[in-house]
Amino acid sequence: MPSADLILAFESSCDDTAIALINKGQVCLNIVYTQQEHNIHGGVVPELAARMHENNLLPLLEYAQQKYSFALKDLDLIAYTQEPGLKGSLLCGEAFACSLALALELPVFPVNHIQAHVLANLIDYPNLDFPLLCLTASGGHTQIIHMASPQEWQILQETRDDAAGEALDKIARMLGLNYPGGPEIEKYAQHGNPKHFKLPSPALEDGSYSFSGLKTAVRYLIERERINTPNFIEIYLHDLCASIQMQVIQALLHNFFKTLQKNPGIRSIALSGGVAINKTLRIEFCRKAKQQQLPYYIPAPEYCCDNAAMIGISAYYLFNKI
Ligand code: KG4
Ligand code: ZN
Repeated sequence: MPSADLILAFESSCDDTAIALINKGQVCLNIVYTQQEHNIHGGVVPELAARMHENNLLPLLEYAQQKYSFALKDLDLIAYTQEPGLKGSLLCGEAFACSLALALELPVFPVNHIQAHVLANLIDYPNLDFPLLCLTASGGHTQIIHMASPQEWQILQETRDDAAGEALDKIARMLGLNYPGGPEIEKYAQHGNPKHFKLPSPALEDGSYSFSGLKTAVRYLIERERINTPNFIEIYLHDLCASIQMQVIQALLHNFFKTLQKNPGIRSIALSGGVAINKTLRIEFCRKAKQQQLPYYIPAPEYCCDNAAMIGISAYYLFNKI
């Protein structure tokens, strides 16, 4: 089979409509249109997301061609996110990518979104050492993934309920903060005391995660304290955010490094997913990784959140069997 050098990739699994162009494993173009239309609802509305993808995909392709002039006839492959994600959103991306491939008489390659979050690390680190253990924390997933090679991967641990980012989004909403909540909580946490409030840990003894207890604890804390202090949130916003953020980060890392100890033979470790944009998580991950004396990787922030470059890079390695 001829190799695919120039790849056009689409991502539409949730509320980001994204397009990327990959040439021989290098990102030429990476454009993400984040649907702001959900913000007033405090979370993603699936039906609305699908409609927005439908409206956005063609203009995004035209915009991409203006930003980086490339001819559709020069493409070797079209890649898209196949699963997991919101059904309607995935369907829009798949229909668009497959129709384009059909019209251009090109092969089309479906990519798994979870695998792509991990393989996003290949964008800046093409010589990743496998087997790799990756902590993926996003709005939809919280998983510890063992990757023997770009092709072979297995989820070793995951959340039993909310994903880390989802919990941060929901807690931020309780605090009256904007969506998405992760960056908002990070902003206020900078000037807060992470030890001020005692909150339950989302790290379970068996190595998995549960974020619903943390969410409920914050709700009860607010309800209780507001009886005597009506503006409790306003007074303690920074300390609340710092304490919540610390519990999430400590839990994520605690069970990740515990899993690492239980899996000898791992040759490198990595982070991925939207929550990996968090600076404190990045710093703490690096600090703990250094103690393990293993190579460690974190994608650049633009490749942590949902994007099509990670879909294109995955297609490059998987389709070409590199
Ligand atoms: O990877 P992503 O863009 O989409 C999914 O695959 O879900 O991740 C989005 C999630 C949101 O929950 C958002 O609150 C969280 O990533 N997030 C952050 C930060 N930036 C985004 N969480 C913590 N700190 C951040 N700086
Ligand atoms: Zn994602």
